[in-house]
Amino acid sequence: MRQSSKFSKLNFPSFFIALAALIMPLANAAEPAKPATPAMASAPAPVAPAPMKADLVAGDGLYNNGDPKRGVVACVGCHGANGNSGVASWPKLAAQHTAYTLKQLKNYKDGSRANPVMMGMVTTLTEQDMLNLSAYLNKQQPTLGVAQNKDSIALGQKIYRGGIAEKGIPACAGCHSPNGAGIPAQYPRLSGQWADYSTSQLVAFREGIRKNSAQMTTIATKLSDVEMKAVSDYMAGLR
Ligand code: HEC
Ligand code: HEC
Repeated sequence: MRQSSKFSKLNFPSFFIALAALIMPLANAAEPAKPATPAMASAPAPVAPAPMKADLVAGDGLYNNGDPKRGVVACVGCHGANGNSGVASWPKLAAQHTAYTLKQLKNYKDGSRANPVMMGMVTTLTEQDMLNLSAYLNKQQPTLGVAQNKDSIALGQKIYRGGIAEKGIPACAGCHSPNGAGIPAQYPRLSGQWADYSTSQLVAFREGIRKNSAQMTTIATKLSDVEMKAVSDYMAGLR
């Protein structure tokens, strides 16, 4: 123990002396005619990590088969073939913007979007897995939906296209686009989504269960249950 602390005390300065001895002659040799060698010119530039590239084949494999060895569950079991879930309790993911989907998976991991099922799913996913899955889903063809409730379509359409001025609710179309396709990468696609799922998210924003968008929390706080249902049903039929 003693020895190792002595060792480092003695050797730390001598390491720098040795380093200087190594560098000085090289620096002298480099002037004046020859350009300085890159190593001598300045401190090495910090190496930026290479941007991650999405691997669609890996995303496809993980989505459809999971990875039992790493404990990754196949997404297809709930979210359906090609990301087109057949059940309202599980959202459709097909054609959603890559950046939005990636953000959601990270938000389940950091807890800003609380859902026990999805929080469990993301524990075994790496950031590269999340990107691969998101990019794969973005490339899938979405299935269309239909509005179910004829009585609320007019109200839903009014809210979606024009908002509710007297309550300070902005038009959904302003961010999510008139046909509900959203705007990459900021605003998610909503068209064709299951109405019950969309309503559940508006409620989650309002109740503070989903805390990953200040904009949506403000909007959802002003919507009544009837308005949430009407606009969600309208969005399901949007195309
Ligand atoms: C056991 C069923 C189940 C499985 C398996 C599952 N999910 Fe989910 N997923 C859900 C539920 C339920 C929700 C809605 C959660 C909420 O309200 O936030 C959801 C929501 C999502 C969302 C948010 C969608 C949106 O529009 O914001 C994404 C993205 C997602 N899941 C991706 C995945 C991926 C990727 C996998 C595979 C690694 C997966 N899910 C596996 C049930 C599941
Ligand atoms: C100022 C821009 C803006 C307006 C206006 C807006 N939204 Fe959003 N909305 C967002 C953003 C940003 C997100 C994604 C938040 C996140 O990162 O999770 C979102 C997400 C959503 C989601 C969740 C989608 C999913 O797949 O889980 C629903 C549902 C939604 N908005 C409905 C509405 C409705 C209904 C209206 C109109 C009453 C509306 N939004 C108006 C910006 C907006």
